Amino acid sequence: MSNLLAGKVGIISGALNEESIAWKVALKAHAEGARFVLTNAPLAMRMGEINKLSEQCNAPIIPADATSMEDLEKLFSGAQEHLGGKLDFVLHSIGMSANIRKGKHYGELNYEWYQKTLDVSALSFHKMLAVAEKQDAFNEWGSAVALSYIAAQRAFLDYTDMSQAKAMLESIARSYGQRLGKLKKVRVNTISQSPTKTTAGTGISGFDAFYEYANRLSPLGNAPAEACADYCISLFSDLTRYVTMQNLMHDGGFSTTGISEEIVELITNAKQ
Ligand SMILES: NC(=O)c1ccc[n+]([C@@H]2O[C@H](COP(=O)([O-])OP(=O)(O)OC[C@H]3O[C@@H](n4cnc5c(N)ncnc54)[C@H](O)[C@@H]3O)[C@@H](O)[C@H]2O)c1
Repeated sequence: MSNLLAGKVGIISGALNEESIAWKVALKAHAEGARFVLTNAPLAMRMGEINKLSEQCNAPIIPADATSMEDLEKLFSGAQEHLGGKLDFVLHSIGMSANIRKGKHYGELNYEWYQKTLDVSALSFHKMLAVAEKQDAFNEWGSAVALSYIAAQRAFLDYTDMSQAKAMLESIARSYGQRLGKLKKVRVNTISQSPTKTTAGTGISGFDAFYEYANRLSPLGNAPAEACADYCISLFSDLTRYVTMQNLMHDGGFSTTGISEEIVELITNAKQ
């Protein structure tokens, strides 16, 4: 622990269970001296696991469906009230696709679910930032981070409508980053994370094979959730004050690797 976030306060969304990336971010933010409010969809609260994290981090929970402006308004005003002032950081760690859950392939997507995917996984980031702007909820040099995936740039068929959601999410980070940078010196970024074994991750068909493929292609191997949490902490800290409007690859080198010895070996052996 180095107290990188001493005196900083914020909101952390998306901690569902111990595997969640947001769960690890919360533990690390707490260890680095931050105070924060936890939030998740009211439905996710029923599982109750978040109460454990809340106790560990001494962080209250304010339930909010990230698609509901009303919920988000209560979340941002409640967080500022509880934390005693404006916010220094916000983590958007939210994703959901009913099309993926139901195993729909790209040619048979249900369009109502498609819109829901975009609303939950991308527009919700805009809604959070818009509420923060309206309530003037950020301190200067604040930081908003959302978690993305490389399917925003490359085709991964099984990721179906989440690919478009991530492309939209990254675009929102750029546009809102420009606006909030000017208005309030607040930075907005996305982190594009390696495949990670979480509830959302493992719900994608073929995840295990793809996880192994990415692991063998990336020179550093897949980035674990703990390392992603470290990266989030660095982006909340004052060490990255001029990083904004970026999609930051956190993938062990996956995105810039063509082929690796491990993959060549695998294919050569399979052919024998
Ligand atoms: N796991 C991976 O392989 C991977 C890779 C890259 C990026 N990501 C992204 O990381 C983020 C966190 O996912 P995770 O892997 O930790 O899985 P997770 O399942 O633990 O987290 C997803 C969270 O989204 C929340 N959520 C869903 N609908 C919501 C709503 N309407 N309102 C508020 N919250 C809602 C869920 O309750 C859950 O806590 C997501 O954006 C995901 O797309 C994950």
